[in-house]
Amino acid sequence: MQYSKIVGIGHHVPERVVTNDELSTMMDTNNEWIIERTGIEERRWIDPAKDTVANMAAKASRMAFERAGVTAEDIDFIVFATITSDYYFPGSGVLLQRELGLESIPAMDIKNACSGFIYALSTADQFIRTGMYKNVLVIGAEIQSTALDLTTRGRGTAVIFGDGAGAAVLQPSDELGILSTHLHSDGRFAEELYVKDPGSSRPHEERQPEQILDTSGFKVYMNGNLVFKHAVVRFMEVINEALTANNMSKEDIDLLIPHQANLRISNYIQQKMQLGDDKVYNNIMRYGNTTAGSIPIAMSEAFDEGKIKPGDTVCMAAFGSGFTWASALLKW
Ligand code: UT7
Repeated sequence: MQYSKIVGIGHHVPERVVTNDELSTMMDTNNEWIIERTGIEERRWIDPAKDTVANMAAKASRMAFERAGVTAEDIDFIVFATITSDYYFPGSGVLLQRELGLESIPAMDIKNACSGFIYALSTADQFIRTGMYKNVLVIGAEIQSTALDLTTRGRGTAVIFGDGAGAAVLQPSDELGILSTHLHSDGRFAEELYVKDPGSSRPHEERQPEQILDTSGFKVYMNGNLVFKHAVVRFMEVINEALTANNMSKEDIDLLIPHQANLRISNYIQQKMQLGDDKVYNNIMRYGNTTAGSIPIAMSEAFDEGKIKPGDTVCMAAFGSGFTWASALLKW
């Protein structure tokens, strides 16, 4: 049986570190609240003069290429997960293709927020298993800082989100690789975590820039409490779904990489599953929630730190806007 395998993983985060104390100069918040409620100590924000979603993704890709022992020219398909593409359209996949100096290979964009990287991984996995592509570049990258409401009104979301990119190279393998992926959504909750504008369903006259007096629709809205309650349930469900599908139990997991939404969510899952500290990887303290970027950035750092070794069973799980949620189980 043909599997697909992650043969290289990389990441890139912007240079600018934004501490909780710096945020407290912009809005009514404080370091203690942010750490207690989210676990976040600092996050990275882009420099709009030089950083884009696509060029951060290119830097993450080059790290992944080096680790995979491939060059950009080997890549035959790009699957790019982001909800913050550089342009309204086209998506950032083609911009990354251009940045890497590639021509004519397909580039697909996936807009499934925090679950985006797992959706993208699952898509790449299907194309590799059917034999259509042999070197697929899977990206999760996000610039959230430019859509945050940095006033006290927006403090419930502004303190959480950050910028960054992760990349994985997938190749076919006769050995075990990605064992299974599990994807879900429930659109009834679409407006509980969303950015409304520039939405195409707005009447034409309201879409004229001079008519847009209320710009709040361009900022992230999140019903934090509700999202939290659904997240803890769906994370557990979708992790168990992956384990059941592979006749495995929680003891088989060498490393769980949860989407970095809130340290309290990761800790809840860890406690429910009774996993040791060495079995769950978190880096939300340093980067906040980077949406589609969070899992591949965490995976790349875990790999750097020697926390993922050949043969390890790695589980990833995510929950976010849509609502969407997903998991993947793989042998490294
Ligand atoms: O990645 C996509 C999925 N996203 C998630 O999974 C996020 C899920 N939700 C959360 O992580 C949490 O709901 C938040 C971190 C967003 C909020 O934490 P919370 O414990 O649910 O706080 P809350 O919204 O219930 O607010 C508690 C209090 C409120 O004040 P009152 O009404 O009790 O006086 C808020 O106004 O904290 C206040 N508050 C803040 N205070 C200082 C809200 N944000 C802040 C802030 N600084 N940044």
